[in-house]
Amino acid sequence: MGYWDARSTVLTESFPTARVAVFGLGYVGSVTAACLASLGHQVTGVDRDAFKAECILKGKAPFFEPGLEELIATNVSSGRLSAATCARQGIAQSDIGLLCVGTPSERNGNLRLDHLKRVVDEIAGLLSEAPKPYILVVRSTVFPGTCEQVVAPAVARLSGVSLVSNPEFLREGCAVQDFLQPSLVVVGGNEEQAVRRIASLYAALKAPARLVSLRTAEMIKYACNAFHAVKVAFANEIGALSEKSGASAHEVMDTLCLDRKLNISPAYLKPGFAFGGSCLPKDLRAIVYRGSRLDLKLPLLEAALPSNQQHLERAIQQVIELPAARIGFLGLAFKENTDDLRESPVIEMLERLIGKGRDVRVYDPHVQLSSIYGSNREFLLKAIPHIGRLLSESLDELLAWADHLVITQKPQAQDAEELASNALPVLNLAGASLITMGVR
Ligand SMILES: NC(=O)c1ccc[n+]([C@@H]2O[C@H](COP(=O)([O-])OP(=O)(O)OC[C@H]3O[C@@H](n4cnc5c(N)ncnc54)[C@H](O)[C@@H]3O)[C@@H](O)[C@H]2O)c1
Repeated sequence: MGYWDARSTVLTESFPTARVAVFGLGYVGSVTAACLASLGHQVTGVDRDAFKAECILKGKAPFFEPGLEELIATNVSSGRLSAATCARQGIAQSDIGLLCVGTPSERNGNLRLDHLKRVVDEIAGLLSEAPKPYILVVRSTVFPGTCEQVVAPAVARLSGVSLVSNPEFLREGCAVQDFLQPSLVVVGGNEEQAVRRIASLYAALKAPARLVSLRTAEMIKYACNAFHAVKVAFANEIGALSEKSGASAHEVMDTLCLDRKLNISPAYLKPGFAFGGSCLPKDLRAIVYRGSRLDLKLPLLEAALPSNQQHLERAIQQVIELPAARIGFLGLAFKENTDDLRESPVIEMLERLIGKGRDVRVYDPHVQLSSIYGSNREFLLKAIPHIGRLLSESLDELLAWADHLVITQKPQAQDAEELASNALPVLNLAGASLITMGVR
């Protein structure tokens, strides 16, 4: 569990206005500097590119972004926003430094961190010449671990310097509006006071800040951008398939978006076990087949089943590596509250473990061999002919037999209670936190 998990959503608190330096006056830095000044903070923008600093000093935007020039002009003339090419001036005029330098791609796709390293070294040098309490905030997009592995060592010798991650989610073209009405404010770090101080910069926006660990803050930015990219690719592939199938791409996607319960919602967005069941695998196979018949390449949709299989492989490997002689499984169906066993990933997992000679048993509150029939029973007996010997009648029986428990689905309330009072080691593949499930 992350450091901040217990209190991760807080409303912003009231702090006095801050003295902030923004390093890097590109798209993110210029918007951040102008918007923070408009919230009442005293802001110095720093860029080694003299053109950008001079633009701001003249009350102009260094590039086109709706609303930015007006905001810069107003705040420069009110004295709340200034700019410089020299980091020394920025540090002298601030207690908080927001790093907004670029982190472009290397040829191999890796991030280039040289701008970040250079600006951090420069700031560390200035703070060691004239020590003072300082909060260094990484706003550039960086991979999880960068703050700890790249930024922290550069300031490790300085006392009173705190490190915070505060990723930026604005979109070019509506960046000012996105800053002032943020979709998300995320502040991560290991020092509570510094994290709260940075969250407070946004207090006037009345947007609740999500306080998280340093690495979570860094990762969230990648998760968001990956999600956006996958959403666009998904809509385009479904659109292409719709059009080729005689349906309107827009009507299909507009209708999909009307469903706020399962589609545009947190449903299906929890990391957990592989999917299965009688619909998702079958229907994805049909889409991929139909796409190929229509001469349509649908790489995203084609990747869903292999991705699911990879996830199952990871889970199987985790179970294989358990230091256990007798492994008990809670859950046989592909999810809780059903007895549908068709394409349950647990069945493939059990087959593989049995093949490797592992001693396994399984309990599922809704699956007793005597009560399942038809295609369900056939599927199970075909996969694991001697399943009858492996099924436990009750959770009690399973817990008494096993020396390690693997949870593949959310336990029912009474099972969760029983698990909470049991000391058996648990591998939770079901996604929901064990505490949410009521399990220690
Ligand atoms: N552009 C976006 O829409 C967007 C949105 C969210 C996050 N981000 C992330 O924010 C970061 C900045 O993006 P951007 O688009 O503003 O980049 P950018 O290239 O437009 O601006 C970076 C600025 O940093 C300056 N700089 C570099 N080294 C410096 C130094 N040592 N001292 C002072 N200034 C220095 C450069 O001169 C440049 O003006 C990147 O990590 C990016 O991935 C960008």
